[in-house]
Amino acid sequence: MAKRKILTDNDPTLRTVCRPIPRITPRVITLLDDMIETMRDANGVGLAAPQVGVLLRAVVIETEPGQVWELINPEIIETSGEQEGSEGCLSLPGRSGHVKRPNYVKVKALNRNGEEYVLEGTELLARAICHETDHLDGRLYIDVAEYMYAPEEEEEERLSPRLRKYARKRDR
Ligand code: NI
Repeated sequence: MAKRKILTDNDPTLRTVCRPIPRITPRVITLLDDMIETMRDANGVGLAAPQVGVLLRAVVIETEPGQVWELINPEIIETSGEQEGSEGCLSLPGRSGHVKRPNYVKVKALNRNGEEYVLEGTELLARAICHETDHLDGRLYIDVAEYMYAPEEEEEERLSPRLRKYARKRDR
């Protein structure tokens, strides 16, 4: 496994629609392994392939430490409810915003063995699924945020359990 560089800010790769993965090759497995290492190194709870410069539809999520979800060609098939809260992104360092997301999300994807599975998530996992799959369509949370936090509010939000859970920037 190797850590990869996370693209940030105005890199056009972050705004590109990614291609489906037609076949799971050793290269794809290496990509997934590297994405997990990169996400953990950055104390993130999710990472999408375009964030490491690969324009393929793959996402990794780890909202519960030790439980990694790998989503290849993910497709959200059901959502319900609503949640509001703060959100950040490893590709937009030092910023956070207030984002409404569905409180329940059902997503269909392939795992690294090429098997289709369905993942259901609520709360933080639902938020992460939405945030990461958005990346595959070149969409960032700042596009859908109700508003961005001012730096001093960010400081407060960093102390709140909610943001710590999503961004987990400081204390893991
Ligand atoms: Ni992100």
